[in-house]
Amino acid sequence: MKHYRQSLRILGLIVAIAAPVALLTLWSIAQDTPSAPKEKTSKEQFKNIKVLKDLPANKLIPVMHQFNDALGVKCDFCHVIGPVHSGFEKDDKPAKDMARKMILMTKGINKQQKLLGGQATCFMCHHGSPEPQTQPKPEGK
Ligand code: HEC
Ligand code: HEC
Repeated sequence: MKHYRQSLRILGLIVAIAAPVALLTLWSIAQDTPSAPKEKTSKEQFKNIKVLKDLPANKLIPVMHQFNDALGVKCDFCHVIGPVHSGFEKDDKPAKDMARKMILMTKGINKQQKLLGGQATCFMCHHGSPEPQTQPKPEGK
């Protein structure tokens, strides 16, 4: 009888320890399960993204239009556009790779140069031209 009571007590102890642990585990699993579907990134949605990986996928085309406006060009300045609006993933124009480097450079300026208050953009230099002017016109010209 004494043995029986002792094992009951041990059993009770085990339950007392195990139950909260089990509850905690369940709770953390519940925390890991996202309640709303996560937005796709550009990397997940498109085929050949090397720089704009974390950009939400629905922001990629608006960014492309900003490039057009900043450089005063059309999409085919950087992309060879195939039939049915395809081929944007290809890297056959040097301007596309140059644009990747420019994106990184602009990000770097905003990160390192507090002086500009994070306002560096493609337009800041390009002002609607693919080849930005780097020297002022001489006075009177
Ligand atoms: C100044 C150059 C430039 C211009 C102009 C430009 N793009 Fe892009 N585009 C890029 C670069 C660079 C990438 C790849 C970005 C990366 O690797 O993170 C890209 C990627 C893309 C992709 C993803 C392709 C894939 O599956 O990997 C699409 C779609 C796209 N561009 C469409 C457009 C459209 C539409 C326009 C015109 C409205 C346009 N682009 C104008 C440089 C440009
Ligand atoms: C700090 C100034 C500056 C910023 C910001 C800048 N660019 Fe440039 N970019 C230049 C200069 C200067 C050149 C010319 C480089 C050369 O001729 O070697 C150039 C050249 C380019 C070219 C090559 C053009 C050609 O004729 O082939 C592309 C494409 C380009 N930039 C895209 C961009 C994009 C896209 C952004 C924004 C993400 C950007 N640039 C931001 C200064 C800048």
